Amino acid sequence: MSNLSFRPATEADIPLLQPLIKRAYRGDAARQGWTHEADLVADDRIDHAGLLEKISHPEGVVLIAADSSTGEFISCCEVLHQPDTRTCYFGLFAVEPKIQGGGIGKAVMAYAEKFVQEKWGATKMEMTVIWMREELIAWYGRRGYRKTGERREFPYEQLVNGKALRDDLWFEVLEKDLTATQ
Ligand SMILES: CC(C)(COP(=O)(O)OP(=O)(O)OC[C@H]1O[C@@H](n2cnc3c(N)ncnc32)[C@H](O)[C@@H]1OP(=O)(O)O)[C@@H](O)C(=O)NCCC(=O)NCCS
Repeated sequence: MSNLSFRPATEADIPLLQPLIKRAYRGDAARQGWTHEADLVADDRIDHAGLLEKISHPEGVVLIAADSSTGEFISCCEVLHQPDTRTCYFGLFAVEPKIQGGGIGKAVMAYAEKFVQEKWGATKMEMTVIWMREELIAWYGRRGYRKTGERREFPYEQLVNGKALRDDLWFEVLEKDLTATQ
């Protein structure tokens, strides 16, 4: 696995970050990875404005993981702090499809969990996953995430330059107690 260097994204990173996210989630590029949403949604996943909103959010950080030797962006994720509950939302998780399955996702997730504890004193991480992505829910399960039983609506009306390929999408909410010994 490449040596990773982590840093918060800035607006200047959007032109490289947005295509990485799209490649990981959507379309034929995503099919090179082991899990994706290419058969569920056909849109851009997020646009410049959406990314800028996340990057500029006072309680949020978009983390970039780059290859330390080349500087190439190979993964990213978003963490968004909810101060009232000391919970952080984890999302926008993407690894370059060609190099998935090599441990980068695990390393980025572990970094994000440590980051939110150190930055905000967060005690819980939560995320949403489309209910039918069983292989991914199992992957999160092996990282300590459990289904809460809560369901959230899929944002059909907020898709970016595209459409959903199914009308039965909704999110499972998963969470992990960051204070528990794994
Ligand atoms: C989810 C994602 C970030 C994981 O990144 P990654 O770098 O592939 O993850 P890792 O290499 O650390 O993990 C490899 C794991 O995948 C598993 N895996 C590999 N191929 C698999 C397959 N065909 N089916 C099921 N699991 C598989 C391995 O068993 C290993 O898990 P384990 O160590 O628990 O056994 C990445 O696949 C991705 O970007 N997907 C597209 C975007 C996405 O779906 N994001 C999450 C939305 S909620």
